[in-house]
Amino acid sequence: MALLIAPSLLSANFLNLEKECAWLNDSEADWYHLDVMDGTFVPNISFGPMIVNFFRKATKKVCDVHLMVVEPERYVDAFKEAGADIITVHYEASVHLHRTVQQIKKIGAKAGVAINPHTPVSSLVDILSDIDLVCLMSVNPGFGGQKFIAHTLNKIRALHALIKEKGLSVDIEVDGGVTLANAPSIVAAGATVLVAGNTIFSAENPKEIVTKLKRLGL
Ligand code: DX5
Ligand code: ZN
Repeated sequence: MALLIAPSLLSANFLNLEKECAWLNDSEADWYHLDVMDGTFVPNISFGPMIVNFFRKATKKVCDVHLMVVEPERYVDAFKEAGADIITVHYEASVHLHRTVQQIKKIGAKAGVAINPHTPVSSLVDILSDIDLVCLMSVNPGFGGQKFIAHTLNKIRALHALIKEKGLSVDIEVDGGVTLANAPSIVAAGATVLVAGNTIFSAENPKEIVTKLKRLGL
């Protein structure tokens, strides 16, 4: 699988989104990673379908919507309508995860499941064949700019082995604290999608950082 780069717009300059989208569209970024936070599942509030729809209109790139919300089944239709291509829900937030995944696929989006740092990869065994992507949280969700939790590398390896053993094609997305320094080991462990917020948007030349991350897949 080619390495995909998914800048997290949470770290973008919201006073200048038109400019941010323009350079992103012109960059080697593959996806827009859009972090939705409800202030209940995570201790922070970000944005909802209305803002996702603005991003949808601003790009042809894949809109990868990461729902950090309780009862995500109540919102997946609204995010699909807003233009999401991929909808990822949290294992910890969805009581009837299988049903939610089917709901996402039925409305024509790709389905992802995210797990928090404390949730073992083995929790995914019985949902893996139904989904397109696993988002491994490498920080506790809620904020950009946190430090990568090193144990995630073991989880990436375990998930990679599990996907291979089952003969599946599921993306392994790593989300949180990805830097130019740790990205090579994250990729070597088996990640296929790198989310990066702070590393990209706080750089002097963000486009160059996207290119550098993309090159790690070659
Ligand atoms: C954290 C979000 C991440 C975050 C990544 O809750 O899911 O997508 O924005 O930002 P960085 O790369 O700065 O850790
Ligand atoms: Zn995210």
